[in-house]
Amino acid sequence: MNLHKYEKIWLTLGSASLVLFLLIIGFAAFWKGTHPQSHIETIDPQNVEAHEAFQPENLGLTEVEDGKFIVNMVASAFMYDFGKDADGKQVERIRVPKGSTVLYQITSKDVVHGFQVAGTNVNMMVEPGHISRYETVMKNVGEFTVVCNEYCGIGHHLMYGTVEVYEE
Ligand code: CUA
Repeated sequence: MNLHKYEKIWLTLGSASLVLFLLIIGFAAFWKGTHPQSHIETIDPQNVEAHEAFQPENLGLTEVEDGKFIVNMVASAFMYDFGKDADGKQVERIRVPKGSTVLYQITSKDVVHGFQVAGTNVNMMVEPGHISRYETVMKNVGEFTVVCNEYCGIGHHLMYGTVEVYEE
């Protein structure tokens, strides 16, 4: 078989980029620990309170055992509901000690939202009718901004919160 010079160049470029992209995916998955959440539990988006995790009193941060936490949240246009504090004020900040294992559980009441804790490997799509879960170890100290990274409407940029990881 005789291949034209340009065809050879093109084939080489094509194969090389395929290998490169696979290497990037492998690097992200096995080195950086980036995995899509694959939880398929469903929920009625009209009635998220029916699920124990999303009842108003169960929202926000709960320590389940030493160094292990669960954060329950409900996303809706245009806020993340982390629950209310003892004074009845809306919680906007989650604080956990460095090295804790945190399971984030979130669902949406209306449209597709995102839940990204910028600067960490927490980055989920939040779909109405589904529960998105992701567990990770908060290794680095700092203040991490929670942002919605799926365009959800006019107030998309107003959806934010903070995860603070402090030195114990
Ligand atoms: Cu919620 Cu964008």
